[in-house]
Amino acid sequence: MATLNFTYLPGDGIGPEVGAAALEVVAAVAEKFGHDLSVEEHLIGGAAIDAGLKPLPDATFESCQRTGAILLGAVGGPKWDHLKGAERPELGSLLPLRKRLDLYANIRPCRPFAALIDRAPLRPERLEGVDFVVMRELTGGIYFGDKGRDNLGAYDECRYSEAEVRRIAIKAFDLAKTRRGKVTSVDKSNVLETSRLWREVVEDVAKDYPEVELQHLLVDAMAMHMLTRAQDFDVILTENMFGDILTDEASVLCGSMGVIPSASVSGGTTGMYEPIHGSAPDIAGQGKANPIAMILSAAWMLRLSLGLEAEAAAIEGGVEAAIAGGHVTGDLGGTLSTSEVGCWVADHVR
Ligand code: NAD
Ligand code: IPM
Ligand code: MN
Repeated sequence: MATLNFTYLPGDGIGPEVGAAALEVVAAVAEKFGHDLSVEEHLIGGAAIDAGLKPLPDATFESCQRTGAILLGAVGGPKWDHLKGAERPELGSLLPLRKRLDLYANIRPCRPFAALIDRAPLRPERLEGVDFVVMRELTGGIYFGDKGRDNLGAYDECRYSEAEVRRIAIKAFDLAKTRRGKVTSVDKSNVLETSRLWREVVEDVAKDYPEVELQHLLVDAMAMHMLTRAQDFDVILTENMFGDILTDEASVLCGSMGVIPSASVSGGTTGMYEPIHGSAPDIAGQGKANPIAMILSAAWMLRLSLGLEAEAAAIEGGVEAAIAGGHVTGDLGGTLSTSEVGCWVADHVR
């Protein structure tokens, strides 16, 4: 018997809706496996701002640091778009949280569920057998460079150190060794100096992995290859912003923004787990949000930060069954609400 102790950050928009569904499932897991549940819920992003606090309140950060296991919904939305720089939910909470915990490796899987292949906008033969993981660098690049305005306009600096590239490349190659042994490194080395460094360092890391095949692609071409021959990819290694963009594209292969979870990790067991989608202001408050990405993120938290493999697998089995049986939200062609999907998966787990 264990205590499931983690920090829960619902955030903004659909964050609290998909979060409640995921908590329902985690509670079912605790019940079934005889664990105690210790959820530390804290404010973040716009919700914290509205409460008169900083976007990343000290108590929130301290809890994250203490538990080392963080389940986050989403932050941001039109209500806070007038704010500038670090006053914004995204720049003032999500980015510093990733940076301060050194969660430099963001892992985003793309494996379309069999039952959804007919629903995707691409032809089924383009989706059968698709199974890749994007290894996105998360704490460097243009997101974290010097940014500002001057009398000419605005600027965002993009920097990568050799060490930053090396450590994420090692993560990608290590992962590829446990999979089909292929790394596709994505950059813009025909234009960007950071990409030229990226390519050099990735080549160097590859020397330590003779059993892994390395290929380089330019990001614009990658955006096309992902839709035309996604089956060819195993581990896609890329810098911060390209990984952000390519994974929203990857969600189209999987049927919805609402099904791809993510794990942000570094060396040890500390991790933050969040869906790749945002706060979806267009559907917030309507019970329409698909909670599957958030539920799967909770499963990854149990597996990677709490070391509970069977519990994680039980959640994934429940999600698989929900999708196979059509117990899903409207984005996947179903009729259930967010909370109904959470209850269905929780019941399946029990
Ligand atoms: P978004 O991901 O929130 O939404 C894009 C589209 O996908 C919308 O049409 C939305 O309805 C749909 N969608 C997203 N999640 C869904 C779900 N679970 N179920 C069904 N449909 C879903 O992206 P956006 O609209 O560009 O951004 C909205 C806000 O979210 C912005 O403020 C942005 O900064 C923020 N954001 C936050 C995070 C995060 O906290 N990790 C991630 C992305 C965007
Ligand atoms: C994501 C989001 C964030 C990112 C934003 C909200 C800063 O789009 O997690 O994919 O770009 O990393
Ligand atoms: Mn994104």
